[in-house]
Amino acid sequence: MTARLALPALAATLVLGLLAPPATATPRTAPAVGPPTPHTKVALAEGYGGAVATVDLDATRAGIDVLRRGGNAMDAAIAAAATLGVTEPYSAGPAGGGFIVYYDAKRKKVTTIDGRETAPAAMTETSLQEDGKPIPFDEAVTSGLSAGVPGTIAQWELALRRYGTFSLKRALQPAIKVAERGFVVDQTFHDMTAQNADRFADFTSTAELFLPGGAPPAVGSVFRNPDLAATYRELGRRGTSWLYGGRLGEEIVATVQNPPVAPGADRKVRPGLMTLDDLRAYRAVERPPVKVAYRGMDVYGMAPPSSGGSTVGEALNILESLPQIGLHEYLEASRLAFADRNAYVGDADTVDVPLAELLSDAFAKERACLIGSVAMPHPAAPGEPDGDYEPCPAARPGAETPPAAEGPETSHLVTADRWGNVAAYTITIESTGGNGIVVPGRGFLLNNELTDFTFGPAPGDPNLPGPGKRPRSSMAPTIVVDDGRPILAVGSPGGSTIITTVLQILINRYEFGMSLPRAVAAPRATQRNTAATLAEPAFLEAYGDALRARGHVLEPTEEIGAVTALELLDRGRIRAVAEPTRRGGGSAAVLIRRNAD
Ligand code: GLY
Repeated sequence: MTARLALPALAATLVLGLLAPPATATPRTAPAVGPPTPHTKVALAEGYGGAVATVDLDATRAGIDVLRRGGNAMDAAIAAAATLGVTEPYSAGPAGGGFIVYYDAKRKKVTTIDGRETAPAAMTETSLQEDGKPIPFDEAVTSGLSAGVPGTIAQWELALRRYGTFSLKRALQPAIKVAERGFVVDQTFHDMTAQNADRFADFTSTAELFLPGGAPPAVGSVFRNPDLAATYRELGRRGTSWLYGGRLGEEIVATVQNPPVAPGADRKVRPGLMTLDDLRAYRAVERPPVKVAYRGMDVYGMAPPSSGGSTVGEALNILESLPQIGLHEYLEASRLAFADRNAYVGDADTVDVPLAELLSDAFAKERACLIGSVAMPHPAAPGEPDGDYEPCPAARPGAETPPAAEGPETSHLVTADRWGNVAAYTITIESTGGNGIVVPGRGFLLNNELTDFTFGPAPGDPNLPGPGKRPRSSMAPTIVVDDGRPILAVGSPGGSTIITTVLQILINRYEFGMSLPRAVAAPRATQRNTAATLAEPAFLEAYGDALRARGHVLEPTEEIGAVTALELLDRGRIRAVAEPTRRGGGSAAVLIRRNAD
C-alpha cells in the first residue's frame, strides 16, 4: 500500500502560498468588458467568445484579432503560430514542425494534424554516426545534417483547408504586420540571442539578422524582420509549392547543403542531405489522436511520431490503477512510462509501435504493480506490452539509456472560439535557435529536428533515423473531453520534459484539486527514467525532504516548461492561462473579458 504525500493539503498550503498566480487584470468585484485586443501581458484571462494563450503578447493579440474578425480556433492558432515565428524565432518559424490537437465542434470529434519534419530520403540508420560511433551531439546541433524537411507550412495549409475558414494568405497577415512593424525585445529574447551568439556569429546570414552591429539586440529595442515579412507575403501569394519544390525550397536546400559559414569561423559544420525532391515529397498528415479514459473523462493527445500522447496516457492509466496518488506515485508512473516510451515508440509509419497495448488498462495494471512505497531502482526496465499480462511480475533490471535532452526550446499555444472549437498546438524548430542557420535573405532559422533521432548504434531502437522517417517527439498538445464536451487544453515546450509537465498539470488539476492557474504555476519535477529527478527550487523546498525519505534522488533545475492552457467553464465562459513567471511569463486573453463576479 502506498502512502499519500499529504496532498492536496500540502500542495494547497505550500504551492498556493509560494506561487500564487497574479491577480486578474481588473478587480474581482467589477465585471468589466475589456478591449478585444489585449495591450498588456497577463497570465490569466476569463471571459467569453474565444480565447488565446501563448508565450508572447503579439502572438496572443494576433490570435485574438483573428477571432474578432470571425475566424475560428484553427485560424487563430495558425495566425498566432505564424506570429511566434516572428517574435519567438528561436522556437518557431516556417522551417520547423509541430503538432495540432483539435476539437472540431461541428463534428464533435478530436483530430490531430502532424506537421513533423521528416528525414531526407538519403538518410539511413547510420547517418548520425561516424566510425561506428554517434557523431558528437554538439556538432549535430549546429549543422545542415540535422535539418529535417520542414513541416510547418504544409501543416498550416492542411489545417486551414480542413478546419479553418481563413486562407493561408489571410492567416499570415497579423504576422506580416508584426514582422514589418517590429516588436520590443524582452529579456527572454535577448538572453536566448546571447546564449546563441557564438554560433550565430559563425553564419553570415544569422549574424546579419540576429546580431545587428555584432551583438544581441538590446532589451527595449525594436526588432524588425522585413525578410520574414516578405517570405510570409510570398508564401501567401504563391502558395506552399513555393517552398515544397519552388524557389524558396531551392534556397533552403542550398543552405542545408552548403551552410553560409562566416569567414574565419572555427566550427565543423556538417552539410545536410536534403534535396528538392524531399521537399516535394513532404506531406502533413491528419491522424487520429491517442485517447485514454481517465477519471471518467477522455484525454486526447498526439499519436506517434510523438510520444507525447502515449506516454502521458500510459502514465495516467498507471496512476488510475493505484489506490492512492501523490507526488511519489507521479514520479514512479512517469519513470515507467518513459522506460516504455524509450523502448517502443518511434514513427509508427515506419516501425511497429504497440500503441494499443501501451495504452491498455491491463498493461497499466502490470506496470503499476511495480510501484512500491519507495523509489524503484534505476533504471526501470521496459515492460512487455504483448497482450499477455501477469498480476504482478517481478521487476527486471533495466539498461541505462542516454539522458534525454531538455531545455526551454519549442512553444505551445491554445485557442478556443465561440463555436466550441479548441486547438492545442505545439510548434518547434527543436533547439533554441534551431540549427543556428538562417536561410539568407529569408528571415528564418532552419530546424535541427533530426537530433531527436537516436544516433545509434542501437540495434532495435524504434527511433533510429531512416529515409523519410519522422523523429520521435515529446510534444504533447492535449485536450480533455468530459461527456463529449472539451473542458481543458494544455501543452508546453521543454523537450522530453513536455510530457511530465503536461502530466503534472493534469494531476495537479484532477487529483490534487488545484485550479488551472494554480496547477500551471505550481513547482514542477520531471522523472524520465533518469537516475535523478530534476526539480525546480520551489518543488525541492516544498517536497524534497519527503521524497528523499522515500528514496528519490533529486537535483535542482532552474525552470521546467512554459505552459499555456485553457479551461471551458459553464455557460460559455473560458479561462485562459499562461505561465505567471517561467520564461518571462506568457500572455492569456479572451475575446470578451469579464471577470469573476
Ligand atoms: N523537438 C522537441 C520535440 O519534438 O519533442
